[in-house]
Amino acid sequence: MSSSTRKTVACIVGTRPEAIKMAPVIRAVQASSWGRCRVIFTAQHRDLAAPIFEFFGVHPDVDLDVMRPGQSLADLSNRLLSSLHHALGREAPDFVLAQGDTTTVLASALASFMLGAPFGHVEAGLRTHRLDSPFPEEANRVAVSHLSTLHFAPTPAARENLLREGIDRATIHLTGNTGIDALHAAARRETPLGASLDPRRRLILVTVHRRENQGDPLRRICRSVRAIHDRFEDVEILWPVHPNPAVGPVVAEMIGDLPRARLVEPLGYGAFVTAMKRAVLILSDSGGIQEEATALGKPVLVLRRFSERGEAVDCGVARLVGCDPEAIAAEAARLLLDDDAYRTLAQAASPFGDGRSAARIASIVKKHLIPVRSKAVSA
Ligand code: UD1
Ligand code: UDP
Repeated sequence: MSSSTRKTVACIVGTRPEAIKMAPVIRAVQASSWGRCRVIFTAQHRDLAAPIFEFFGVHPDVDLDVMRPGQSLADLSNRLLSSLHHALGREAPDFVLAQGDTTTVLASALASFMLGAPFGHVEAGLRTHRLDSPFPEEANRVAVSHLSTLHFAPTPAARENLLREGIDRATIHLTGNTGIDALHAAARRETPLGASLDPRRRLILVTVHRRENQGDPLRRICRSVRAIHDRFEDVEILWPVHPNPAVGPVVAEMIGDLPRARLVEPLGYGAFVTAMKRAVLILSDSGGIQEEATALGKPVLVLRRFSERGEAVDCGVARLVGCDPEAIAAEAARLLLDDDAYRTLAQAASPFGDGRSAARIASIVKKHLIPVRSKAVSA
């Protein structure tokens, strides 16, 4: 196909997990013979997304520079909607793609809808069925589903959620999760961790960033990490601290003095995958980490009351423990003391995909934009 007849696909990215999960999609559209990819970076996450782009060799074409320190949801939404509306109006893409449930994705779907541009939602149909948990992501997902032209559901459960909400079956495609494509690419590279850890100690990896865990819940999580650290002398804690200003100061105050706890800057994606592989246990409220831990067979205690990734819980790798310090410490102790209990959880599984999701998505977008005419019709 000549460059003038190629279809323009705008791929919008705002935060770290979107950069990770959209990188394989961007690469697939770029490698196609029919598509011209335009990467629009809202920079909702300025610092966290940059190393991911570098890791995957992605170069944004447009940078909307929306991030502000301590941004409120309302101000962020305002900046995103007006700047995306302007950028998409200028780019006039044939199709728009965005992934997940952040404010960037909600604004992308809304701006596309306002401009009449078809919008494809990558990782569609995840639900906790609690509108305020996670906050605001569950509400974002529901709204985006009702603004999308095509829905790329990662799992059969996600597809069922969409069908139950009355989404047209013909617009839903089961593709797997592109995060697993990214994980396979990172695991192949074996990036060094870049942090010196004691090889004799068992590594526990911790991340926390959800808005509903800020404040007292984060303090309770820190208390549980302290308890685990104090009870198990052969354990080392690695906590890459999210740059949200509501997180770092609390973690530093409550954990900073522990001799075997390493509070570090967020790790690059390759290094983080290495850390997951090295860890015996992960404590996290992250969405993407639940998927990665499942693929790697690393037990993860999910620091949330509800998960939209029931597949990770069902296959045994993930346990929902909330943020009660006693519950977290008790479950961690059970796994650290009981080899049988540990082995039951530490089983790799692939409910989230086979690593070929991005190629499927690109091919579905192509079919949507360039429908194949049957011989009988074209004759
Ligand atoms: C956002 C998403 C959340 C996603 C998470 C992934 C929303 C509402 N939240 O949460 O769904 O799970 O990203 O990590 O869309 N900051 C920096 N540098 C960065 C990134 C953030 O300094 O590179 C700081 C800024 O002060 C910023 C604050 O963190 O204002 C919060 O960022 P924001 O994107 O609003 O929320 P997150 O908690 O990161
Ligand atoms: N991640 C990373 N470095 C870190 C922590 C996490 O690269 O220090 C990656 C992780 O492997 C996963 C993604 O970031 O792919 C998850 O992002 P986050 O937890 O911020 O967001 P969520 O998935 O909860 O939306």
